Amino acid sequence: MAFLSKIATNNGHGENSSYFDGWKAYDSDPFHPTKNIHGVIQMGLAENQLCFGVIQEWVENNPKASICTPQGSNGFKDISNYQDYHGLPEFRNSVARFMEKVRGNKVKFNPDRIVMSGGATGAHETLAFCLADPGEAFLVPTPYYPGYDRDLRWRTGIQLLPVVCESSNEFMLTREALEDAYEEAQKANIKVKGLILNNPSNPLGTVMDRDTLRDAMSFITEKNIHLICDEIYSGTVFNEPGFISIAEIAEEGAVCKNRDLIHIVYSLSKDLGFPGFRVGIIYSYNDAVVNCARKMSSFGLVSTQTQHLIASMLSDDVFVEKFLDESAKRLAERHSLFSRGLAKVGIESLKGNAGLYCWIDLRRLLKEPTFEAEMELWHLIIGEVKLNVSPGASFHCSEPGWFRACFANMDDETLRITLRRIHKFVIQKTGSDQPTRREQYKRSKLEISLSFRRLDEFTMTPRTLASPHSMTSPLVRART
Ligand SMILES: Cc1ncc(COP(=O)(O)O)c(C=O)c1O
Repeated sequence: MAFLSKIATNNGHGENSSYFDGWKAYDSDPFHPTKNIHGVIQMGLAENQLCFGVIQEWVENNPKASICTPQGSNGFKDISNYQDYHGLPEFRNSVARFMEKVRGNKVKFNPDRIVMSGGATGAHETLAFCLADPGEAFLVPTPYYPGYDRDLRWRTGIQLLPVVCESSNEFMLTREALEDAYEEAQKANIKVKGLILNNPSNPLGTVMDRDTLRDAMSFITEKNIHLICDEIYSGTVFNEPGFISIAEIAEEGAVCKNRDLIHIVYSLSKDLGFPGFRVGIIYSYNDAVVNCARKMSSFGLVSTQTQHLIASMLSDDVFVEKFLDESAKRLAERHSLFSRGLAKVGIESLKGNAGLYCWIDLRRLLKEPTFEAEMELWHLIIGEVKLNVSPGASFHCSEPGWFRACFANMDDETLRITLRRIHKFVIQKTGSDQPTRREQYKRSKLEISLSFRRLDEFTMTPRTLASPHSMTSPLVRART
């Protein structure tokens, strides 16, 4: 008799995968600006730390919201008692309004359809439990967030089938790729229950356009399968084109024939930068799914203290507006600083306008166009350059040579050190820091438009960020 269950002993969590090597390397030798200047810099963590100051100011000005303060302690008894799994009404209302604001008030969300979960992680698993049986499958465009393998598959027993997207069209999803993946599943006798979209995308840092979303909607309608749209990065869009939520398409009667098939996953982990609070949201247009997910939410409720705090914070319209504007501005600056720094040594990245990372093209540094060579380069980057970036293979990318590097979990100075290390490495590896002709052209255009801003950028006050040492060990943190 097996001592532990199959779920307990299989590797569905993925913690033993080789991709954790980067985390282990960081954990054993973490960079610190004064205590360990040559340590590993963590670029594998999609955290949004750029606006902590704005949040901290709000928390200090609103001590009642935190409950465990002299100003808030009157509410302590009510808040600390057993809670209803529907969640505090003020929490659901304020989250629904926040989701509308992030979407430019173009759509309405009904607070009665908001279901809580332990982060988007819990939301995905709950939806998978609601929508599919073991052995059934969801289609997912590649490259995709590696956590899906754990969140959607591990305990539910469902399968994820890749929809292959390619660099030739900037990894955009096509109807053809969807049909191919669906056909493959049919040939293998696998029942497809749905499609998962992640918009804006992790790892691409791009948003989906209206036509692509409409195409996806007509595809799932035709096949009569579910559509889960993970919009966890919706508030991180920092440049045009703006974000289009699947909720907008769901309101287009001509395109969306059956709203019961549409489910949105959201969380405050990225847009507000609160991954530690584990505030995840399922928003389904399907009553049966809302009911079932709500019952299941007993396994991943958000604590009432957190709900209370979030409700107070998000119902402060002035704060929300200021935060969203400031966050977009800082992300845009950071993205520009990083991608221009890369371009200086001829490293290109996908043109992104959202997210907390760049999707970097290192194909020209590969010995040969294989995933073995990608792995070799990755080990070199971790071991010698001491940067924990994430290789494309961990995102199921179909082409070797792409890497994701997060840029919003560090301060400006650490980013500059990162860029210096990259410059040195590329020059050593290629024997040149000369950009390609295309990059030279792009750079000359940039020089003109940025020459006035450069001074500001380099005299920018470093933001107050937590020391890397104050972070919890990455080995026990969720893979983001
Ligand atoms: C696309 C995507 N979905 C879901 C998650 C999980 O988010 P949470 O921390 O809210 O569980 C992440 C985390 O990085 C993510 O990138």
